[in-house]
Amino acid sequence: MDLSNQQIDLLKTQGFLRMDSIVPKHEMEPLRQIYDRLFSSRAGFDEGLQFDLAGDEESGKLKVPQIIQPSKLEPALRDMELVSRARAIAEAVLGGEIESDYGEHMIFKAPHANTDTPWHQDQAYHAPDVYHHSVNFWIPLDDATVENGCMHFVSESHQKDILPHHSIGHDPKVHGLEVDTPERFVQNQVACPVPAGGCALHLPHMLHYAGGNNTDRPRRAYILMMNIKSSPREKPLNNYWITEKTTARQQRETISSK
Ligand code: NI
Repeated sequence: MDLSNQQIDLLKTQGFLRMDSIVPKHEMEPLRQIYDRLFSSRAGFDEGLQFDLAGDEESGKLKVPQIIQPSKLEPALRDMELVSRARAIAEAVLGGEIESDYGEHMIFKAPHANTDTPWHQDQAYHAPDVYHHSVNFWIPLDDATVENGCMHFVSESHQKDILPHHSIGHDPKVHGLEVDTPERFVQNQVACPVPAGGCALHLPHMLHYAGGNNTDRPRRAYILMMNIKSSPREKPLNNYWITEKTTARQQRETISSK
């Protein structure tokens, strides 16, 4: 299951890599069942763990529902062989011990949820005073295609520092981010279709995008971020695109933690 040295070199050179299989066969159905249950019951909504990635939630409907830290809601996720596989791969790539509080989230695109996840770097969401050293695993539970919202990458963009971002639609009530003027980068975009249970791996500064779902079937994705200890930035990033946010999710999180 470990990556070959050639695959590791490719990941480090182009910033992303496709794997046809990472979820053990016997874990596919249990994982889909957990996933469906968490979304259909709106688990974690009151605590701000479930929220809208792409809209302001004012209508009560979530355009692109997202759950962060789903293992807080379903601890069995932490015991999956998938997680130990991802950890072993990330250790081989990063050459260090993976932190116990690895990142995870789930993004659900319902049939005909024709809303894209705009171009961004994951690190733009994270602490501005450190460099994250992680391998991010984007794992579809349905075959991911261009039509239903597979990942797209800009090869070698993982070598860039964090670029200025803004909230989707320039609306600070929306959680999701978009890199400023994405059209500068995307001439060289590469679509990365992946079969269900496979994986698109990428490094934390990689520019990536996922399209909307234009099909009759759901597009379910589970994302793991396996990181070793981060290192400090000499000068913290001015991530005004995060500090200016005023999302409904933050309000719920504040109320529930009181
Ligand atoms: Ni992302």
